This record gives sequence, C-alpha cells and structure tokens, in this order.
Amino acid sequence: MSESVIKCKKDLSVTVAGVKFPNPVIAASGTYGFGQDYTDLYPLNILGGISCKGTTINPKDGNPAPRIAETPAGMLNSVGLQNPGVDVFISEHLPKAKRDGNIIIANIAGATLDDYRAVAEKLEDTDVDMIELNISCPNVKQGGASWGITCDGAATVTKAVRAVTKKPLMVKLTPNVTNITEIAKAAEAEGADCLSLINTLLGMRIDIKTRRPILKNNVGGFSGPAVFPVAVRMVWQVANAVGIDVVGLGGITTAEDAVEMMMAGAKAVQVGTAIFTDPYAPVKIIKGLERYMEENNLNSLEEIVGTVRPW
Ligand SMILES: Cc1cc2nc3c(=O)[nH]c(=O)nc-3n(C[C@H](O)[C@H](O)[C@H](O)COP(=O)(O)O)c2cc1C
Repeated sequence: MSESVIKCKKDLSVTVAGVKFPNPVIAASGTYGFGQDYTDLYPLNILGGISCKGTTINPKDGNPAPRIAETPAGMLNSVGLQNPGVDVFISEHLPKAKRDGNIIIANIAGATLDDYRAVAEKLEDTDVDMIELNISCPNVKQGGASWGITCDGAATVTKAVRAVTKKPLMVKLTPNVTNITEIAKAAEAEGADCLSLINTLLGMRIDIKTRRPILKNNVGGFSGPAVFPVAVRMVWQVANAVGIDVVGLGGITTAEDAVEMMMAGAKAVQVGTAIFTDPYAPVKIIKGLERYMEENNLNSLEEIVGTVRPW
C-alpha cells in the first residue's frame, strides 16, 4: 500500500487529553509490538498513534507456551507481558517507533507501586507522547489486573504514577469488574487525564482430548470481535460517568465499529486483535472513517463522539 493511496483528504484529527492525534485509530498495546514488523507494509505515521507493548522495569520472558488459543470470534492469550524492559525500550525501540513523528504511547506495567513509579520516571525525559497505565493485565501473577479491580487499587497506582510524571496519563481499565464506572472515577480523581478500555476479558478453553486447559497458564485474556458489545457498553457507561476523555477498544475490526465506539463516547479508538488477521486493518479503518466523514458531511470526527441518542 503506497503512501499516496492512504493519504487522507479530510482532517481526521482528534485531541485526547491535550494530545493531537492525526486520526483516531491507534494500534493497541501488545498487538503491534513497537511497530517494527509493519514498516515494510506502510509508513507508521499513517496511524493515529501506536500504543507500544506493555513495558516493565526489568525484561520479562512472559508465560510458558502454549499461550495463544483461537476462539470462533476472537482469541485467548496469556503472553504475560513479555518485553525487553524499559531501558531497552528507551534506547532501541522508542527512537525507531518515534521516527517520522509518530505519536507514541508507552504502555507501562508492574508488580509493585515502586515498579510502576520507576518505569514512569525513566520515561519522563523521553519523547513518549503519553503514558498508558496498564492496571488491567490478566496474565501476570503479581500486580497487573489486581490494581484495576478495586477503586482503592486503581486510585493508589494512579496517584503514585501521577506524582512522578507530567506526561499525559491514560489509565487502562479492566472489564473484569462488576462496576467499571466506580473504578474509572477513582482513577479520574487521582489525576488520570484520560482512560482507555477495555483490556481483555478473563477466559478459558479446554482440549477435550487431553482434558487439559489449552493455555499453559490455564486462563487467559479474551479479545477480538466477540468482545465488541461488552466494550461498547463499558465505554458508554464510563464516558457518561467521567469528565475526562475516553479511548475505546475491544474487538474493533471495521470503520463502522470505530464509528459505533465513538458514538458510545470514545474520542479515539484502539485496534488490537484485528491486526493479527489483517495487518492493514487499522489503515482500512482510517480510510473507512474518511469515507464516513465525506458521506455524512462532517468537518471533524469529534462531532460524533458520545452522540448515541437515548430511547
Ligand atoms: C497478544 C496480546 C497481547 C496484549 N498485551 C497487552 C499489553 O502488553 N498491555 C496492555 O495494556 N494490553 C495488552 N493487550 C490487550 C489489548 O491491548 C486490548 O486491550 C485487548 O486485546 C482488546 O482489544 P482487541 O479486541 O482489539 O484486541 C494484549 C492483547 C493481546 C491479544
């Protein structure tokens, strides 16, 4: 796909927590690495931005295989935050990802508060545009989603990271809770500039021949088209409960999905699992959004944000 084919005639830009994205389509953390595998396909600055693979203070090998299982309309993963650690992210991956002026979001994770703080401190003097605080990873034994399932946990880790960073702070919420709006409000109260949701839903598959779980970790995070209605519902609930911007993700596969998510209240969207079936998915969604703007005479995509009409 050449650059001229994907160049947009319309202004698709959106502003999230003060950061201007050239369009609202961001590659979701953990599904796009640091962008390096896609540079031969299209220039990365076509995207709205890239949320990089979850980064921890020390390198992590992740969980043992098998750690991927397919489902009829999605997948389960238990990758377990495999990453090279924040120092390698800063020295090797960030300069390449940032080339061509791409908007780069660093997705950070940790087992302890000190871990989260240390990663955020190291990123402070880099050209990362935004920090995405992952308090929602279901695939690690310590930390991860345990921060994101209570209001206290979400508040504590948001406050700790807020204290050490001036960068725009996006807190990523887990859907594995009963009342996501209370968690969202707790993060907002402690200084989150915006929220992203949803991370994966906790799931499990069993191989009926061996009677073993398919994943070595037994359980894993469920993502892909099947989770889309859950994500739309949660984004709609959260967007109506907080005063900060919301970024919606979970199962987005087409431009129509992105429009629906924005109507639910998302200022921007992230695309994850869809990239595994079609690496051009984010680019096709951007083109589809441009068509949607033309067909509906829109000057800005922000005109549709939160416009779902009550019955
Ligand atoms: C293989 C895989 C790895 C992921 N790794 C991360 C991660 O490191 N940090 C994070 O915040 N989310 C991670 N996620 C969650 C996605 O960013 C996203 O929230 C979720 O998959 C729902 O969106 P989707 O249905 O479009 O994939 C991962 C998802 C998958 C499938």
